[in-house]
Amino acid sequence: MIGRKFTYLEQLNSTNNYFANKLLEQKIEHGSVIMAGEQTLGKGQRGAKWDAEPFKNLTLSVYLEHANLSVSNHFYLTQSVALAVNDFLSDFGRDFKIKWPNDLVFQNKKIAGILIEGQIEKDKMKSSIVGLGINVNQEIFGDYNAISISSVTRSKYDLRELAFKLCEKIEIRFQDLISRNYTKISEDYKTNLWLLGEISQFSDAEGEFEGKITDVDEFGRLEVLKVKDNQVKYYQNKEITFLERRI
Ligand code: BTN
Repeated sequence: MIGRKFTYLEQLNSTNNYFANKLLEQKIEHGSVIMAGEQTLGKGQRGAKWDAEPFKNLTLSVYLEHANLSVSNHFYLTQSVALAVNDFLSDFGRDFKIKWPNDLVFQNKKIAGILIEGQIEKDKMKSSIVGLGINVNQEIFGDYNAISISSVTRSKYDLRELAFKLCEKIEIRFQDLISRNYTKISEDYKTNLWLLGEISQFSDAEGEFEGKITDVDEFGRLEVLKVKDNQVKYYQNKEITFLERRI
């Protein structure tokens, strides 16, 4: 059960690091959660940092065991976690979407981020540390193009209560993953994907272009149709940038 073992600490460098260090010494129970009031070295994707105003946001990690998930199926884990966060956010209103591959946005503003660090043995992704940063009660984001649940709903929230609700959502989507409901996972992911089927502005190594996201394949590559020459291209993470949405 995700969240049955739940630890809260006021300050940590990073909840992902906390579990990673713990794993070096001992076993961690599947579904364990570590939540921090404040992270001094919060990690974002690709070596970036994750800034979150202390005690106002959800910063937590969940330890998941999924012994038989092959490395080639790792994108289903990414999709399941993104869907769980999207399910959680959807209880606060409409317009929350998954921005490929695993950001959560509200009308183009980032509201949550996911950092999954997997433990691989042979060709299996044995377990993973799923780090989640969700903007909750923070109001001011400076230069970041970000928003919080509270800015959307104009209410304040108890962070621990929200953490438990989030765990329930992860549990539900995790069941789909271990039951290998891969078709359902990718269909639900696409249903909630931001800009799917809409003509928008992007840039890639060749420059800016107008395109339409048409699919995401089983390995997590984004399929985009370039409008000008009707050419279909596949992108890995970081090979394409989303620019202003075309109205
Ligand atoms: C991203 O760049 O979008 C991913 C952000 C992930 C942030 C969370 S906060 C809890 C967990 N601990 C970390 O150090 N990072 C993740």
